[in-house]
Amino acid sequence: MKKQFPTFGHLFLILFLFVLFSLPFGLIQSFTPKSWIAWMMLLGYAVPMYLTIWATRRIFDKQSHFNYAPKHLMILPVIIIVAYAFLVVGEFTVFLLPKPTGIWKKLFDMLNETITQVFNYPLAGFLMVVVAAPILEETLFRGVILKALLKKYAPFKAIMISAIAFGIFHLNPWQFLYATTLGLLLGYIYWKTRSLFYPIIIHMILNGTAFFAAHFAKVDAEQGIVEQLSGENLQKYLILVSIALVIIIMSYYFLENYFRNTSQELVLATQNPHKIAEIKKIMPSNIYLKSLKDIQFKGDLKETGQTLEENALQKLHQITRAYDVDALADDTGLEVDELNGAPGVYSARYAGEQATYADNVEKLLSEMKDKQNRAAQFKTVIAYSQGHKEYMATGILKGSIATQPRGNGGFGYDSVFIPEGYNQTFAEMGEAEKNKISHRAIALDELKKMINTLNK
Ligand code: IMP
Repeated sequence: MKKQFPTFGHLFLILFLFVLFSLPFGLIQSFTPKSWIAWMMLLGYAVPMYLTIWATRRIFDKQSHFNYAPKHLMILPVIIIVAYAFLVVGEFTVFLLPKPTGIWKKLFDMLNETITQVFNYPLAGFLMVVVAAPILEETLFRGVILKALLKKYAPFKAIMISAIAFGIFHLNPWQFLYATTLGLLLGYIYWKTRSLFYPIIIHMILNGTAFFAAHFAKVDAEQGIVEQLSGENLQKYLILVSIALVIIIMSYYFLENYFRNTSQELVLATQNPHKIAEIKKIMPSNIYLKSLKDIQFKGDLKETGQTLEENALQKLHQITRAYDVDALADDTGLEVDELNGAPGVYSARYAGEQATYADNVEKLLSEMKDKQNRAAQFKTVIAYSQGHKEYMATGILKGSIATQPRGNGGFGYDSVFIPEGYNQTFAEMGEAEKNKISHRAIALDELKKMINTLNK
């Protein structure tokens, strides 16, 4: 069986792809005249990164869309403060590592030299460090890797793995701890906002600070803290780290509280206006409902499963996998005892692909001609996702099939379905009455209870 993306093997493959795509640029770079070297470095970073993202998506996650929408702009100041607090703590993790000696020293010097070289070029350096790196790295690590991990694991584990992968990707021990620490913040913010906007902003602020410090204040960005901390300086820095930790903890509680009270968004994966109206009525007011049109989904949702459950999940996944949003999808079928549960999952196309409601009713009545046992049930299955976890709710309403169509209201099989304990068909009963007792109402009621428990 194919393992769900991303496994550790997949993560190493991504790293391998990046190294592979970088090789030709490394070669060209050694022949590049000095005046062009900065631009070559920018290309040698941005093109392999772009290709890695492109290849990863093509191989593992074709449907994926990236969301860069700026949301929750009110929390921007908190995000900026917390980004700097992480910078202070992140720098400290570099200090915790032993001073490099021997071959490590060589590697460390090489790394420093490359960074210094990049930082020395104002425009190409700026484009690489402050523009390209934040956008490309966040798209890959949060937009592709973390997004997929969140579907597989609980948020804490998913954020942890993506942060470590981000650390390893830097390919040296000094940036490993720093990048992993930052990866936790970037991952947390992505998980909460489902948008790459904040991770990119934070990444830009941090890289920008290092870039401008190196460029204008001539601070040796990588070497500074490791080499210079001792005695009184160390004490001062420890105080700064403590303050940063307090800020991080306070911001965490602030953000948790903020996100608990802001409205959730939920995409309704249905094109049927009857259903949308019914769902709207039962949803808590802090859930903001969006239609397929709102997220610019075009075309039809596929439903090719063998059961109602499979179809509901299939419709849900077409939305959640592509857009990384919470969503709700449902599937309904009429199950007739004498017909071994038919039309069931095929209710919409019982009399053929292009069948109208009237064609389906006609076929049903002809199949049921002369049948004494007219017992049937409507079954609705709702698949619901919240925060990358999926839930199902089911509603069943028992009844019987009338011998001929009665009433003008409703849709589908309403004119031939008589709910148990009633004499009228759904179509005779009127919409309000139907909506109180229907299979969909029962499923939605179960869903409502589930949502209320989840949001407690
Ligand atoms: P869907 O999968 O929920 O779109 O439903 C499939 C088919 O079941 C529809 O095309 C209708 O023919 C029928 N159906 C679903 N809900 C109802 C209902 O409330 N009353 C009557 N027919 C329904």
